[in-house]
Amino acid sequence: LTLRERSLTAVADFIKSGKARRIVVMTGAGISTAAGIPDFRSPTTGLYANLSALNLPEPEAVFDLSFFRQNPQPFYVLARELYPGARYRPTVSHAFLALLARRGLLHMLFTQNIDCLERAAGVPAEKIVEAHGSFAGQRCIDWGGGDGAEEGEGEVCGGLVKPDIVFFGEALPRAFFELSPMTKEADLVLVMGTSLQVHPFAGLPNMAEEETPRVLFNLEQVGSFGTRADDVMVLGDCDAGVRKLAEEIGWKDELEKAWRE
Ligand code: OAD
Repeated sequence: LTLRERSLTAVADFIKSGKARRIVVMTGAGISTAAGIPDFRSPTTGLYANLSALNLPEPEAVFDLSFFRQNPQPFYVLARELYPGARYRPTVSHAFLALLARRGLLHMLFTQNIDCLERAAGVPAEKIVEAHGSFAGQRCIDWGGGDGAEEGEGEVCGGLVKPDIVFFGEALPRAFFELSPMTKEADLVLVMGTSLQVHPFAGLPNMAEEETPRVLFNLEQVGSFGTRADDVMVLGDCDAGVRKLAEEIGWKDELEKAWRE
């Protein structure tokens, strides 16, 4: 066993002891709900529960490439909803990730989110793997051209323009496959705000070594959490859980300051 017990206090002690020097974090839509961005699968508030107006065969079709080719409109409607811009502010959870990076403890952050709030919070780009892409780039999928965002190429080519978000049926970015082995190097794994329903991302927490403590900050139990001796589940709002952890480590003021900035 690495942790003294399965508790947040034991995780805080582990970090305080200086033994967690390579923290690998995996995040999902749940860390952005406090910013006002809906997640996907929460029963009443999630996007998939609220797509009925768009007349989709099933909610996931909105992120399906072949469906998009036939009928891109539902995605464009959704994109307006999700488009980051200045509308949304990073959450306490995002600020915590930036704090880990500033302290040199963030080995790598794997995010499924496309809202770019990790960068907005100050996590350096080289510490982020956007496993499902982001709105930062877009391309014409009919001509297979490069990033036409700046040149407005999408408008002139007459093809379908799609942000660089990974749809079902598309490969994840190469960085995901190249960097996911970093999970094996982790001495602590934090999983926050994800249902771990979508593969291959959902397999990441299982790549951690057996003796590496894994901590889940989520409203509900997900994935294989709870099956390992050093799994700690902090069920509830992730901002609240992260604040509690920061307080126990002695980072409370630093976290609140990072969040307000
Ligand atoms: P989901 O909506 O599937 O899961 C979000 C998880 O966060 C759920 O387990 C919620 O209970 C939890 N949650 C919500 N709010 C929370 C809060 N304030 N504190 C703690 N937990 C909270 O979102 P993802 O797992 O990110 O793909 O979804 C994975 C992928 O499915 C997405 O990347 C998206 C979607 O299809 C693409 O966009 C390509």
